[in-house]
Parts: sequence; C-alpha cells; structure tokens
Amino acid sequence: MARTTDQTGDDDDVLDPSLSTATDEQRLEASLRPRTFDEYVGQGGVVGKLKVYVKAAKARGEALDHCLFSGPPGLGKTSLAHIITNELGAALHVTSGPALEKKGDLAGFLTNLAPGDVLFIDEIHRLSAAIEEYLYPAMEDFRLDVTIDTGPAARAMKIDLPRFTLIGATTRTGLLTSPLRDRFQIQERLEYYTPAELELILTRSAKILGVKLDREGAREMSGRSRGTPRIANRLLRRLRDFAEVEGQGVITAQLADAALKRLDIDASGLDAMDRRIPTTIIDKFGGGPVGVETIAAAIGEERDTIEDVYEPYLLQEGLLQRTPRGRMATAHAYQYFGRTAPRRDPQGDLF
Ligand SMILES: Nc1ncnc2c1ncn2[C@@H]1O[C@H](COP(=O)(O)OP(=O)(O)OP(=O)(O)O)[C@@H](O)[C@H]1O
Ligand SMILES: [Mg+2]
Repeated sequence: MARTTDQTGDDDDVLDPSLSTATDEQRLEASLRPRTFDEYVGQGGVVGKLKVYVKAAKARGEALDHCLFSGPPGLGKTSLAHIITNELGAALHVTSGPALEKKGDLAGFLTNLAPGDVLFIDEIHRLSAAIEEYLYPAMEDFRLDVTIDTGPAARAMKIDLPRFTLIGATTRTGLLTSPLRDRFQIQERLEYYTPAELELILTRSAKILGVKLDREGAREMSGRSRGTPRIANRLLRRLRDFAEVEGQGVITAQLADAALKRLDIDASGLDAMDRRIPTTIIDKFGGGPVGVETIAAAIGEERDTIEDVYEPYLLQEGLLQRTPRGRMATAHAYQYFGRTAPRRDPQGDLF
C-alpha cells in the first residue's frame, strides 16, 4: 500500500489535505475509494492506457510521465491519483492549486520528494501565475530555480530534484494555460459513467458499508445517479436511512423510487438545480440563446458552478446546447419538461 502524505506531513490513507477536519462525507469517500485498477470501475480506455504506462515506467525503473486528469466533479480523478501511486509502489504527496500560495509552499513539497514519488495537485487550474512558472522547470528538467538573499546580494541557485511524477486534476482543462497543459505528457478526460457501471459501483459500496441493496434497487439507483460515482455513493447512504426507518432494511426498486422522489431527484437523476437551468432558459428567455452570466443571475448560482457541475451533464443529456451566442434549450428539453417548443427559422431565430 502506498504511503500518503498530507500537508501536515502525517502518513495517512485518506485523500484529503485537511484530515483532522475531514467531514463525514470525506471519510465515507475515503472508505469507498477504489485502491487498485481492478477495483476502479469503468473509464476502460483511460485505465487501459494508464496500466501500460505504469507498467512500462516500473519496468524501466523510471518515474511515470506527468499526468493531467480532467472531468466533472466526482468522476474519479483523485481516486486515479491514489491508484497510480499504489500501483507504482510510490508515496503520494497531496496538495491543491489554492493551497500553494507562495513559492516556498511548492518548494517545500518538491524538495521533500523521493525518486519516483507522486505529487498530486488538485484544482491545478487555480495555481497562481507565479507558482505556475516556478513549476515549469521542476516538471521539465527536475530543477528548481531559487533566489537566495535579497537586494544586491541576491543570487540565483539551481536545486536538483529527484525525478517525480506530477498528477494534476481539474474540472475544466479550458481554464489551464497552454504552457502548463503542454508540460503534461499524459492527458486524459474522464467521462460520465453508464448505468451498468454505476450498478457495479453501488453493489461494491453497499457491500463495504453493509447496506442491503437488491439488484433492482441498484438498477433503479444507477439510472438516477447523474452518471457520477460520488452521487451514487451519496444516494446510497441516504436510501439506507429510508430502508432502515421506513422499509424492511433493504433498498428495493420501489423503496429507491419513492425515496429518490422525496429527495426531489427525477427519473433521469436530475435534481432541482439541474432542472432549473433549462426551464429558466425556456420560461424566462424564450429558449435562448442566453449568456451564462445572465442564467447565473436569474437562478442565483455561481457561474463557475454552473459551468463545472451542472452544464456538462445537461449537455451530455441533450437538454442544453452551447452556441456562440449563448446557451439554448434543445428540442428535447422542451419535450422533457412538457413545454411547447416555439417555431424557429433555420438560423435559430424565433418567428
Ligand atoms: N471508477 C470508480 N470506481 C469506483 N468508485 C469510484 C470510481 N470513481 C470514483 N469513485 C467513487 O467516487 C468518489 C469520488 O471520486 P473522486 O474523489 O476520485 O472524484 P474526483 O474526480 O477527484 O472529484 P473532484 O473533482 O470533486 O475532486 C470516490 O470516493 C469513490 O468512492
Ligand atoms: Mg478530487
């Protein structure tokens, strides 16, 4: 099992930098996190390639090339970083873009690495420009440029670093500068999971948590988990409560359906905010196109959250369309939400 170092320098198995303040939810995540490639369900293409790269690096006795993982929250980016480290038999050092405020913060991490170690930077798109530039020579030449002293006595020094692997995670690659992006030799995007994959994840999680979930219950939940393992696991916990208090202790399809309705999750797994975005575009903005800022103001949600969390799933479900002039509700959205679609000319303008 690989060692994990958080920012306090303690060895621990939990992912999160702020271990002592880990919430219940974070503890749950850590207990359900897959530990090996074999436990990691889905993302077949990505996992297949990573297995090859890890094996090759190990055989050559070299550090794995730097990896960048992108994709919406809860799809398994952090989990992959843990698994790769495990499979390499290396140590994992965890930090995040916003946590690296000063050059010294990053230098502290880099100079503590042993050869072959993995440095995981979560939310890497939130690194400041100064830190980012400081990272370039470390990634490229395994070298750190430091300035010692200030004023006329200041002099530049180069510190050699061991060969290490940087794993970056981001919800949006578009927010990364291209010089940073280009320095990752391996770049992979995680996709939403299929219901069949989520069914496997739910069954495994139920076993670990000791929750009774029958096959039909797992199927009902898998279609309503928004393609996201984290959401599936979260719902499992909620539904266990309903099963224990109001049911016979088992999550059946019927119990799952009734409980999910009470949690305001619809038949496709959309929650209230998911639904609110397309219905607002339809009801208040004639179906669009409308800018994301305007939508954000209309529904009282942050623009970033709309773009990172909600939009990708609505796009994938075909309920939303991005055009150069803004977001539009699709014909499918009108149908799904029981609205009558306006007639448009071929340019998309209303008659
Ligand atoms: N492929 C998978 N197989 C099984 N469980 C998974 C898989 N991917 C994710 N999970 C579960 O979902 C939880 C969330 O995954 P993870 O923390 O890796 O997501 P993330 O992409 O890093 O999210 P964020 O962008 O919010 O940091 C994990 O604790 C794990 O239980
Ligand atoms: Mg993560």
